[in-house]
Amino acid sequence: MRYFSLLLLIFVLFACNSEPIEADKKNTSSKTQDPHSYANVHEIRTEHLHLELDVNFDNQTIYGVARHTMSKHKTSEAIFDVKGLEIMKVTLGKEGKEKATEYSVGKNDELLGAPLKVKVGKNDRNINIYYKTTEATEALDWLPPSLTAGKEHPFLYTQGQAILTRSWIPLQDTPLSRITYSADITVPSDLMAVMSSKNPTERNDAGEYHFEMNQPIPAYLIAMAVGNLEYVSLGNKCGVYAEPQLTASAAYEFQDVPKMMQAAEELYGDYQWDQYDIVLLPYSFPFGGMENPRLTFANPTLLAGDQSLVSVIAHELAHSWSGNLVTNATWNDFWLNEGFTVYFENRIMEKLYGKETADILALIEFQDLTVALEDMAASEHPEDTHLKLELDHRSPDEGMTDIPYVKGAYFLRTLEQKVGRPKMDAFLERYFSEFAFKTITTADFETYLTENLLKPNKIQFNTKEWIYENGLPENCTEITSNRLDDMIETAQAFNAVPAQKQKISSFLVKKRSDFITQEWQTFIRNLDHNLDPALMGQLDKAFEFSTNANPAIKSDWFKLCVRTGYTAARPEMKAYLCKIGRRWFIESVYQCLVDSDTEGDYEFALEVFEAAKNNYHYVSRSTIEALLKKN
Ligand code: BES
Ligand code: ZN
Repeated sequence: MRYFSLLLLIFVLFACNSEPIEADKKNTSSKTQDPHSYANVHEIRTEHLHLELDVNFDNQTIYGVARHTMSKHKTSEAIFDVKGLEIMKVTLGKEGKEKATEYSVGKNDELLGAPLKVKVGKNDRNINIYYKTTEATEALDWLPPSLTAGKEHPFLYTQGQAILTRSWIPLQDTPLSRITYSADITVPSDLMAVMSSKNPTERNDAGEYHFEMNQPIPAYLIAMAVGNLEYVSLGNKCGVYAEPQLTASAAYEFQDVPKMMQAAEELYGDYQWDQYDIVLLPYSFPFGGMENPRLTFANPTLLAGDQSLVSVIAHELAHSWSGNLVTNATWNDFWLNEGFTVYFENRIMEKLYGKETADILALIEFQDLTVALEDMAASEHPEDTHLKLELDHRSPDEGMTDIPYVKGAYFLRTLEQKVGRPKMDAFLERYFSEFAFKTITTADFETYLTENLLKPNKIQFNTKEWIYENGLPENCTEITSNRLDDMIETAQAFNAVPAQKQKISSFLVKKRSDFITQEWQTFIRNLDHNLDPALMGQLDKAFEFSTNANPAIKSDWFKLCVRTGYTAARPEMKAYLCKIGRRWFIESVYQCLVDSDTEGDYEFALEVFEAAKNNYHYVSRSTIEALLKKN
C-alpha cells in the first residue's frame, strides 16, 4: 500500500511537471487518451516511419524493419502497439550505427493486441523494430490467383482501419498522432506494389518500389496493395489501378471522378494530396471503399456497369477532407469522420447529378437508419445511438453502424437547414482549413461550432441532444422523393394482390433498366414478408434479380427471398455469398438466415459460410463467424 502511494506521488509530481511534447502543442486533443491503443504518444511519438519490407507470397509473410524517428522526449520507454507480429530484435540509432536495446512484449489482449515496450535514453530518436508478420495477421488478405480477376497472379492488400495496422506494422496505432512515412518494398517481379502515398505507374522488373508520404497521416491510413496492376489516367489528377482485365470497365465506371474532384474543391477548398487514384481490389475486400490517402481502395462490386454505385467514390474522395485532413481523435469520435463524409458525399452527388438523385441517396440511407435505430433501441447498448460513442473495452468495429454515418449526416443537414446553405458552407470550408492535418475530439468540434457558427449568428441549436442522447431528435430534417414514393406504392400493390392485379401486370412488363438501383431497393424493401413465393418467382423472372442484378440490389433481394421462403434462388444466393466479401452486403443476408423461422435456413447459412469463409478478409470472416455463433 505504502509502495503504491509512493508510486502515485511520483506519478502526480511527474504529471504536473511534464510539459506537453512538441507535437502535442500543435494539437487540440493533447490530453485525450485513446482506449484502443497502448501507445504513450503524449510522452514520445513517432514523427516519421521508414519501412523496409519484403513481401513473400510463398510463405505469406512480410518481413523487414520498421524504422521510427521519434519526437524529442524525456521518457525512458516508448510503447508501440503490436498484434500477431513476431518481433525479432529492436535497436536504437541510425542505420549502420545501431545498438540492440531491451524490449518486452506485454500480455496479448484479444482485441487490442499487446504493448511493445522499448527502453530508450533521452537522446535516442531512432528506434528500429525488426519483425515479421504471422498467420494471425488481421490486416493482410493474401489471395491465391483463383480469387483474382485474371486468375494468374496472387494478390495482397492491407486494411488498417480501425485498429488492424498494428497487425502488419509495429507502431503507435492511434489516430491521436500523425506521422509521415516512406517505404522500400520488395515484391515478386511479376507484381506491382502501390501504397497510400506517391505511387509508381509502371511495374519494374526488379520488383523494388520506393514510396513517400510526406503529409502527416494517422496510422490507420497506411495501406498497401500488391498484384498484377495496370494504371489508367482519368484526367485531372485522377486515375485507376486495376488488373488488366478490369481497367476498361473501371475507367468507364469511374469516368466522372475528375468532375467529382472539381465539385469537391469548389465546395470546401483545394484538394491537399496532389493526386487522387483508386485501386480496384478483389471481391474479398470487406468494404465498398476505403479512403487511403492518394489511393482509395475500392471493391469491384462498384463496377455495376451503369455508374449507379459511384456515390461510394464520392464518399471516399470526400474523406480527403473529412477524416484524412481533419481526423477523429479516437474511435469514439468516429462520426466526425463518417457523418461529415456522408454529408459531403451527398453534396458532391448533388452537384454532379442534381438534387433529385442526391435526395434519393439520402432517403435510402434514412431507411437504413430507421432500421438501425429500432434495432439498437431494443439492444443491450441503446447508447450506441449517440453520435459520440463510448466503445471502451469494445471493438471499434461495433461503432461502424448507421449512427455515425447517417445520423451524423442528418445532424449536419438539419444544421444546414437552420443556418442556411451559404453560412453552412463557409463554416465547413473554414473548419477544414482550421483543423487541416490535425486530430480533433467531438468536444473540439462543439466549441468550434459554437464560436464560429452559432454564436455569431445568434442561433440556438440542440447540438447536445444530437450528440449525447439516444435516438433521433425531433427537429431532424425530412427529405422526400416522388420517385421513391412511387416505388413504395408499387410494392404495396404487390402486397395487396390479387386486388391490384392490373397494376401488377403492367409493372411486370417493365425492364430493370427503367429504374435506378435505389428505386429497386426501395421497391424490394417495401414488399411484404409473406408475399407468395409464386409471385416472387414472377418478379425474379421479369427482372432477373437473382441472376443479373447488381450486388447492392441482390443483397436486398436475397434477404427478401429468405423472409418470404422463396427458395428457388438458393444456388444464386450461395454463389453470391461465396464470391462477395463486402461486409455490409453479406452480413445482413446471413443475419436473415439466422433469424429465419424456416427449418434448414440456419444450417444453410452454416454450409454456405463453410464454403465461403476462405474467400473473405478477416474483417468479414470474423463478423460472420460471431453472428453465426450467436444462434
Ligand atoms: N472508412 C470507411 C470504411 C471503414 C470504417 C473501415 C471503419 C474500417 C472501419 C469507408 O470510408 C466507408 O465508409 N465505406 C463505406 C462506403 C459507404 C458508406 C459509401 C462502405 O464500405 O460501405
Ligand atoms: Zn467513410
